[in-house]
Amino acid sequence: MGKRLENKVAIITGGASGIGEVTARLFAEQGALGVVIADIQEEKGQKVAASIGSQQCIFIKCDVTDEEQVKSLVESTVNIYGRLDIMFSNAGVLSQDKQYILDFNMKACEKLFSVNVHGTIACVKHAGRVMVESDTKGSIICTTSVAASAKAPPALIDYVMSKHAILGLVRCASKDLGEYGIRVNSVAPGPVATPMACIAYGKSVEEVEKHLESGFIFKGKENLKAKHVADAVLFLASDDSMFITGHNLGVDGGYVPFIKWLPKN
Ligand SMILES: NC(=O)c1ccc[n+]([C@@H]2O[C@H](COP(=O)([O-])OP(=O)(O)OC[C@H]3O[C@@H](n4cnc5c(N)ncnc54)[C@H](O)[C@@H]3O)[C@@H](O)[C@H]2O)c1
Repeated sequence: MGKRLENKVAIITGGASGIGEVTARLFAEQGALGVVIADIQEEKGQKVAASIGSQQCIFIKCDVTDEEQVKSLVESTVNIYGRLDIMFSNAGVLSQDKQYILDFNMKACEKLFSVNVHGTIACVKHAGRVMVESDTKGSIICTTSVAASAKAPPALIDYVMSKHAILGLVRCASKDLGEYGIRVNSVAPGPVATPMACIAYGKSVEEVEKHLESGFIFKGKENLKAKHVADAVLFLASDDSMFITGHNLGVDGGYVPFIKWLPKN
């Protein structure tokens, strides 16, 4: 297969781990001119960037909850690589604890929203601005979740709400930025055994996959992996999806019994 991201420059937030890390590696394999890993995990991010190669990949420490840091991330990327074609706004956190409506924890919700919602807005805003200014027909991809459209979502109300909010942002921003030839889409993973899921379950990758297995309609050769999500992100980032915008692309193997996402207690 040819290189689908030749001469393109991408930022990946949450790129030090899980889905973001695998996507960074895939973007580099696909010939990206530059891949910027942006994350709060400095040591891990530096290691991932070094293993990809300093010519093609760098790490920039960025807390997406701070709009100034996001603005500076975008500016630094353009200063270093001369352009920005792709923003993968993927950094996210899970609810710290169960969130049932009758005991809803507002403070925990605010904290989660500052990353998942406000962080994503800042990434779309500043990537969009620089693409408009430079007349770059770029592609912006956000990470939602199967939780953004599930009828029986898990007892993580703030997380579920945050992913619905990103869906709204993608639809609105695709309209605003569409006028400039910039596409805005999202990818909606089903449950994947990344560090986020393994920590939430307190289980190993194999144990988490085993626990989730029965929930997938699609019985493939293997369980849902970060690589499957990264492939969808690559599609949305590349010219292969040239006329697709405002779309939320599910990568979930038809995952149904959401009720199983986290154990009851
Ligand atoms: N794993 C799943 O089952 C699953 C399913 C659906 C959606 N998602 C979404 O996928 C995205 C990636 O999650 P993952 O599963 O790869 O988890 P992960 O924990 O492996 O990766 C998330 C990354 O985001 C970074 N991050 C957290 N807060 C940040 C902040 N304030 N600023 C910058 N970076 C920050 C973390 O340091 C981490 O490297 C998240 O948005 C998550 O909600 C995950």
